Amino acid sequence: MMQSKTPSESRTVMTDLVLPSETNPLNNLFGGDLLARMDRAGSIAARRHSRRVVVTASVNHVAFNRSIPLGSVVTIEANVSRAFKSSMEIIIDVWIEDRENGHRTKANEAIYTFVAVDDMGKPTPVPSLTPETDLEKERFVAALRRKQLSLVLAGKMKPSEATELKAIFMEE
Ligand SMILES: CC(C)(COP(=O)(O)OP(=O)(O)OC[C@H]1O[C@@H](n2cnc3c(N)ncnc32)[C@H](O)[C@@H]1OP(=O)(O)O)[C@@H](O)C(=O)NCCC(=O)NCCS
Repeated sequence: MMQSKTPSESRTVMTDLVLPSETNPLNNLFGGDLLARMDRAGSIAARRHSRRVVVTASVNHVAFNRSIPLGSVVTIEANVSRAFKSSMEIIIDVWIEDRENGHRTKANEAIYTFVAVDDMGKPTPVPSLTPETDLEKERFVAALRRKQLSLVLAGKMKPSEATELKAIFMEE
């Protein structure tokens, strides 16, 4: 039996600059570059949680709410929100920092799913997650809905089996 872990044990924070080669013609960070940065931070968090090789199984939700200008200091924070059998949902929050007062503003967020695999690339079990804070508990509960939605959209689960999703739509 693997010992459960908390989100803080695998939390991953990456801070970096936006350089000219990483921008679009409007001098803002290129979306694909941000996806790659989030993928890296997320995979490190999943790897710290599972202590296994992990692969990206799906990118479930990405919201590019604010553009990130050239020269910005970008902080990407990745937290495991829930661990299932072999898969882990990772929530990624992206912040930019005001140069003068250091105040941080949330720019983007995304939700990735990583799967731990063995030497043959086959899914392998991971420790469970024990959320601690209110936000971690909220994200933990919602993760099961998101997993079912992702599996339904990927054609890997029948809508009739998605109990958590049905519960939302059946609410009064
Ligand atoms: C991810 C991968 C290991 C899943 O393999 P699989 O044969 O579908 O295995 P399973 O059906 O047993 O699924 C394994 C886990 O992934 C989850 N999963 C699979 N597809 C998913 C999706 N689209 N969304 C969310 N979870 C997904 C399953 O629910 C299962 O979770 P659980 O064990 O925690 O219950 C396999 O598809 C793979 O290797 N893909 C390529 C990954 C890769 O190379 N990524 C880099 C992008 S280039």
